Amino acid sequence: MKMDQPRPGGGDPEESRLHVAVIMDGNGRWAKNRGWPRLVGHRKGAERARELVEACPRLGIRYLTIYAFSTENWSRTTEEVLGLMSLFGRYIKREASRIKKEGVRMRFIGDRDPLDPKLQALFEWIETETAHNDRVHLTVAINYGGRDEIRRATQSVVRAVQAGTLDPDAITDRTLSAHMDTAGLPDPDLVVRTSGETRVSNYLLWQAAYAEYIFTPVLWPDFTPDIMAGFIETYRQRERRFGAAPA
Ligand code: FPP
Repeated sequence: MKMDQPRPGGGDPEESRLHVAVIMDGNGRWAKNRGWPRLVGHRKGAERARELVEACPRLGIRYLTIYAFSTENWSRTTEEVLGLMSLFGRYIKREASRIKKEGVRMRFIGDRDPLDPKLQALFEWIETETAHNDRVHLTVAINYGGRDEIRRATQSVVRAVQAGTLDPDAITDRTLSAHMDTAGLPDPDLVVRTSGETRVSNYLLWQAAYAEYIFTPVLWPDFTPDIMAGFIETYRQRERRFGAAPA
């Protein structure tokens, strides 16, 4: 489907509240295929992420949650880890005015404590600067792992019980959701993973319980908003089939 065609079922894409989560995989292979350093792939990947954020309103994506650095990624070389961390900082500084102008609310999920305090301060700054935006909700997962998030949420729930502010018998799914890093965000409808890997890799384990998954061999630096438009069409077809009465 081309982006400028009307979405199936009609409706204004800006009114759509679709939550798409993306595992942006394949930057390293993309660079290696060209004989370039892995960080060149990550830089290209960051450009692709920016293009996708910009395309969200016309794609009908209200919530976009992207996996930029996992709790497992610390095992990469120091050069790559530091390169990625500095890329995140530069991205925030360089994109801040565009993000604000386009009505993007930016948030970060994951454990911030081990990150450079300067980077943590940048996260807080852009989160505050964009807190009132509502056109696109961009959430970036950095030092994020689904199990780690559930562990931290559990600790926070137990502390509330110990403090006497939470009755264990009153704990529901919603209580748990409210203690996750994603508190306030709807659950993802669709999870897309690039580069041909067909694993969930510890991404949004709690939140994606009912999500549709699409896996594509395209490497992240080759991913375009047009490809995403096609996936959203596939998602909507699956959704319609799911809702249809059995023959
Ligand atoms: C996975 O590819 C990608 C990452 C670990 C980093 C993702 C980061 C970006 C796309 C850029 C930063 C984004 C923002 C928002 C600033 P890989 O390195 O695992 O590739 P490989 O599997 O081919 O080795």
